[in-house]
Amino acid sequence: MGTGINCSNSENKLGPKWIAIAVVSAILMFAFLAWAVNAPKKSITAAFNMCFRAIAAQDPDPRTRNPDYLAARIVNLDLMQQYMGWTLDFESSVNSINHDKLWIFYYVTARTKHMDSVLLKELKSDVKQVVIMGAGYDTRAYRFYKDFPKVRFFEVDLPVMVADKKSRVKSNLSELPNNLAYAPIDFNTQELGQVLARVGYRKDQQTLFIWEGVVMYLDAAAVESTLRFIAQNASAGSSVVFDYLPPSVVEGTYTRDPYAIRMADFVKSQGEPLTFGIDPDKSGAFLNKQGLKQVSNIGHDDMVKRYMTDSNGKPFGTVPNFFWITHARVLNDK
Ligand SMILES: C[S@@+](CC[C@H](N)C(=O)[O-])C[C@H]1O[C@@H](n2cnc3c(N)ncnc32)[C@H](O)[C@@H]1O
Repeated sequence: MGTGINCSNSENKLGPKWIAIAVVSAILMFAFLAWAVNAPKKSITAAFNMCFRAIAAQDPDPRTRNPDYLAARIVNLDLMQQYMGWTLDFESSVNSINHDKLWIFYYVTARTKHMDSVLLKELKSDVKQVVIMGAGYDTRAYRFYKDFPKVRFFEVDLPVMVADKKSRVKSNLSELPNNLAYAPIDFNTQELGQVLARVGYRKDQQTLFIWEGVVMYLDAAAVESTLRFIAQNASAGSSVVFDYLPPSVVEGTYTRDPYAIRMADFVKSQGEPLTFGIDPDKSGAFLNKQGLKQVSNIGHDDMVKRYMTDSNGKPFGTVPNFFWITHARVLNDK
C-alpha cells in the first residue's frame, strides 16, 4: 500500500515534469530540424579554389607553380579524393582536370600569383593592414605574417566560412599569426565599415583590400558600397585588388568561350550563382565613380605571359579568356 501511495505521489509529481520534458524536447527537435533545413552552407567555390591551389602548389616547374604552399595542409585530402578523384600527385590530378576541361584551375594559379605580387609590393611600401574580403580558405595571412610582423591582417567572410576556416587552420597549422582578426560579414546586408570597426581596423593606416573571387557573387549595390567605403575611409595610398567577369559571362551570353556557360551553370547548381559583372573596357570609369583610380587591369594575355608560361617558354594549361583582375587606389584628395 505504502508503495502504491508513493507511486501515485511520484506519478503526480513526475506527470507535469515529463510533459515539460516532452514539450521542450519537441521544441528542440523542431528547432534542430528548422536549423538543419536552413543551415548555412559552406562555399563550394571556396573549397574548389583551395583544392586547385593545393594541387597546383605541387607543380614541379617553379615558373607555373602556385605559391600557396599551405593549401595542401588545410585542404581535406580525403574529401578531395573521394569527390573529385584528385590527390596531391600533380600529374594525375592535372590529367583529370584537363580531361574534365576545368580551365579555372589555371586561372586560379595566375590569380594567386598576381594578387601575391600586388600584396608583396604593397607590403614593401607602407601598408600596415591587409583586409582579405570573402577570404574563404585564403592562406596569405599565414604565409606572410612572419616576414611582416607589424602588419595586421583581417579575414572577412560569411559567418559559416569564418567558423570553418578558424577550425581548419587551428587544427592543421602549427603556428598561427597573432596579428590576425576574423570578422563575419554578409556583404549584401552589412556595411564593411561597421564590421571592421569592431575588430580594430584603423582608418589612419595604409591598407590593402584583397577581394579574390568574390564580387561576381554579390549584389551590385554591395560591391559599389564596399568600394565606396574603401574610397572614403581608407587612408591615402590604400588600394583594393579584385577580379571580375564581364556582364555577358554573368548573363550567359558570352560566346567567345563555351567554358564560360559551363562554369556559370556549375556555380549556379551549387547555390552560388553569378550575379555581378563589369565591362572590362569601362572598369576604369566604374572605379572612378566609386572614388578610386585604376592602377592596373589585367586580362588573359597578360596572365599567360606573366604567370602561366613554363620554364621552356611555353604557355602552361588553358587560362580562360574572360577573367579580369584590377587594382585601384584611393585618391589622395577625398
Ligand atoms: C569563390 S570563393 C573565394 C574564396 C577565396 N577568396 C579564394 O579566392 O579562394 C567566394 C567567397 O566569397 C564569400 N562570399 C560569397 N557571398 C558573400 C557575402 N554575401 N558576404 C560575404 N562573403 C561572401 C564566400 O563565402 C566565399 O568564401
